[in-house]
Amino acid sequence: MTDVSLGMPQLPAPDYPAEVRERLAADAAQVIARYPDSRSALLPLLHLVQSEEGHVTRTGMRFCAETLGLTTAEVTAVATFYTMYRRKPSGEYQVGVCTNTLCAVMGGDAIFDELKEHLGVGNNETTPDGKVTLEHIECNAACDYAPVVMVNWEFFDNQTPESAKAMVDDLLAGRQVVPTRGAPLCTYKETARILAGFPDEREGAVEAGGGAGPASLIGLRIARGESPHTPIVHPRGEARGDADTEGGE
Ligand code: FES
Repeated sequence: MTDVSLGMPQLPAPDYPAEVRERLAADAAQVIARYPDSRSALLPLLHLVQSEEGHVTRTGMRFCAETLGLTTAEVTAVATFYTMYRRKPSGEYQVGVCTNTLCAVMGGDAIFDELKEHLGVGNNETTPDGKVTLEHIECNAACDYAPVVMVNWEFFDNQTPESAKAMVDDLLAGRQVVPTRGAPLCTYKETARILAGFPDEREGAVEAGGGAGPASLIGLRIARGESPHTPIVHPRGEARGDADTEGGE
């Protein structure tokens, strides 16, 4: 008779080796101390276990549940809801191409198709050397820089198929890659530890920033009177002035 897998998780999940569990428990205690209620630390703890293994394993979920006094079902529900938690072994660099509406029409679809062919992998697949995992992602609130690619959650603005292919070539070759905004990339595990709330101790990394760029801040600058006001959206029913209408409408 053939065994049939129903896709149910095997229970109980194995525990971490004692040394790993002890180290993670000390880290987790630091994170939990920042919250009035320990269960609020679940999101950073999932990043913490991801920094250990590169993805959220059943062992990692068991650790979170036991540490926070939650059920594994509660932890699983959260870990499977957010796309920042990976559920299977993946690459050192998670290359996400935004194929949401604006990025798609500005070239995101073309970038994704060309990267698939260039890397020889499909969506959510990893190159054989374990370096790059390609995925299409939804809007990352950087539409003013469309089309956008994110690597380990750092922005690469205003991309083209050529710039994106050159960037993944650098990742595959082990060359340092610097996002449009922010510090040079670090590996997925290192990024996960920063997201868990531990400081980025690389020299110059914090000073490198990584916040909003000029296109995102123009509205704020206009509101502060730091930039000339240029009407972009006109009140409903009001004709556009001649001054900003080329050729009339
Ligand atoms: S549609 Fe791509 S960042 Fe918003």
